Amino acid sequence: MNDLHGKSIVLGLTGGIACFKAAELCRSLVKAGAKVQVVMTEAAAQFITPVTMQALSGQPVYTSQWDAREGNNMAHINLSREADAIVIAPASADFMAKLIHGKADELLSLMCLARPIQMVPLILAPAMNREMWAHPATQRNVAQLKADGTHVLDVGQGDQACGETGDGRMLEADEIVEELLAFWTPKVLTGRHLLITAGPTYEAIDPVRGITNLSSGKMGFAIARAARHAGAQVTLVAGPVSLPTPRGVSRIDVKSAMQMNDAVQLTAPHADVFIAAAAVADWRPATSADQKIKKDGSGDTPELQFVENPDILALVAKSPRGQNGELFCVGFAAESHDLLAHATAKRARKGVPLLVGNIGPSTFGQDDNALLLVDAHGAKELPRDTKTKLAHDLIKDIASRLSKF
Ligand code: C5P
Repeated sequence: MNDLHGKSIVLGLTGGIACFKAAELCRSLVKAGAKVQVVMTEAAAQFITPVTMQALSGQPVYTSQWDAREGNNMAHINLSREADAIVIAPASADFMAKLIHGKADELLSLMCLARPIQMVPLILAPAMNREMWAHPATQRNVAQLKADGTHVLDVGQGDQACGETGDGRMLEADEIVEELLAFWTPKVLTGRHLLITAGPTYEAIDPVRGITNLSSGKMGFAIARAARHAGAQVTLVAGPVSLPTPRGVSRIDVKSAMQMNDAVQLTAPHADVFIAAAAVADWRPATSADQKIKKDGSGDTPELQFVENPDILALVAKSPRGQNGELFCVGFAAESHDLLAHATAKRARKGVPLLVGNIGPSTFGQDDNALLLVDAHGAKELPRDTKTKLAHDLIKDIASRLSKF
């Protein structure tokens, strides 16, 4: 699942200062392709106007169960039947307390109660003061909502409008969109731990210079994100890149191949799948100077000696768990030509069940790519598309191989 095209979302707003973030959320949902129908409580309309939400959603906003625009005067039925989900953001403490009792004295709670519970999921993004959030009554209500099948998202932590600091902030718009994308992704990797490397490595020559490979890390990060959407626990070992950590992914930052190898060897014993998408430097300078090597004006150049870096993927693939299939290893090959031949040879050399080939120069730093999946039986193409889409397809492919394992 890469976007929200075709999704019909009822966005409910209840009273709280986080309503200002609901405007951005509405915009992001529409941008992601969703049809958004806004429903607001009276309290929400104290914080943000229905006019703003109408302009952003492109749909008239509903605020009352007595809205005469509906032919049958049953907005609560009509709106909830058309929705793929009802998302309440912000969900106030008071509104959650109402929900657990099945109260239905205004349109939004009435609609939540009237929705076909098996077909229309209810997703809440709570927002409130930290004391209200921590209160046993709120925590009891959250537990009851979850027991009733409601999806209650986490709260954020930090500064609050009241001047206090703590838990209870509503998640940011992009975080809620991310949670929705994950919500609609089939959970083909639940219970699996994926270890993924991404980005280049940097091999220091001295404190200010080094050698590295061309890699933005975008493909590996997209795979980590897709794996998390698919329900996996994900550890991402990242070389030096300036990419944000995908939500819900635990990230270990490293610089050199040796550091990447240490992080991988530490985590691999607990992983079910290892995807080596990093562009690891093949060699590192034999020595790294403590101080900057100075140009002395003589015209002499420094003599650089190199030593080979450990082949992280081959080492993991050769480990007992890699060999007996407890750890499914996937390699990457960035080639400039003859992709099938090189990828096939590399798969054999690395001793991995699956090797993913791509043409490096036509994808480095870009948002799209094309992949060639090579296994013992042959090759399959994933044609040019966004890295996000390809990552989801690759994850689906890997998950289907695991179930046959
Ligand atoms: O040998 P080559 O670098 O072309 O192979 C690419 C694959 O091997 C990628 O999956 C890459 O992450 C992995 N690799 C590695 N350790 C190295 C070199 C490459 O894990 N030292």
